[in-house]
Amino acid sequence: MISLGHGSARSSPVLVTAFSKKGLLVTATKEPPALTPDISSPTIRKANRRSTFAIIDLYKSSVGKKWIMALTGIMLMGFVLVHMIGNLKMYVGAEDFDQYAEFLRKLLYPIIPETGVLWIFRLGLLAAFGLHIQSAYALTRINRKARPVNYKSPRDYVAVNWAARTMRWSGIIVGLFLVWHLADLTWGWANPDFVYGNPYANVAASLSRAPIAALYIIANIALGFHLYHGAWSIFQSLGSMSTRFNPRHNPIRRGFAAGFAILVAGVNITFPIAVLTGVVG
Ligand code: HEM
Repeated sequence: MISLGHGSARSSPVLVTAFSKKGLLVTATKEPPALTPDISSPTIRKANRRSTFAIIDLYKSSVGKKWIMALTGIMLMGFVLVHMIGNLKMYVGAEDFDQYAEFLRKLLYPIIPETGVLWIFRLGLLAAFGLHIQSAYALTRINRKARPVNYKSPRDYVAVNWAARTMRWSGIIVGLFLVWHLADLTWGWANPDFVYGNPYANVAASLSRAPIAALYIIANIALGFHLYHGAWSIFQSLGSMSTRFNPRHNPIRRGFAAGFAILVAGVNITFPIAVLTGVVG
């Protein structure tokens, strides 16, 4: 049989020429076999679906999510560090602390309206926070699906499981604390003595209540654990994507993660203690 093969292999009929049993040359058209997968099928369409933006495709992949986790984590680490340094003004005095808060509200004023720059920071922070939580949740789901079988060594399993659980619980505590903290010192709903524009007096009033001071201490301990594991896993996940990653430097990385966590959480914990003991207030 000689096939003349007109048209595309996918949908057009093929012209087939052959000799019949009586020796006559016969020509007929024949539907071609499906050489390529049927791309109109919903399964293939879903698998081949590409968004117009490469960045969205990257975000959908687990490598992309790790990058988002790491970058937003670094932004949030920057925020807690700067916020902690700013709060140190509490030790200088009420006037300095209130002036610092006023300075933040008036950044680039009058070029940009009052609190304009602060709102840009707030929106950036909010976006980083949202993406951080979303990618953490998505990665946990991906990891659970990918590892239905336990780790080779029970020691690895215990270590990874403990870190994952610590991250989850400390993250939830810090998230809930943040809502409380904003209601307490930014919006004032949770602080009966709140006066807009008087942050020093607001902090002193809030932290002079022992249960609230305890809440700040517990939240900052949780923040410390979260920062330690978070900073350490940023090194691990970004490092695993680099060919130049040297595991021999892990003790330095661990030291940095621990130092950063102890510094931020440790200094933050001094504020409620200072108010309760009358050093500040
Ligand atoms: C004892 C420790 C802390 C103290 C004394 C403190 C103090 C304050 C004060 C006084 C404000 C209000 C500033 C103003 O609007 O005038 C504030 C806002 C804020 N704090 Fe804290 N803070 C502490 C810990 C934290 C921690 C651990 C986080 C994050 C996990 C955090 C996140 C924020 C955020 C996001 C705002 C809102 C910033 C804004 O929108 O202007 N704070 N904090």
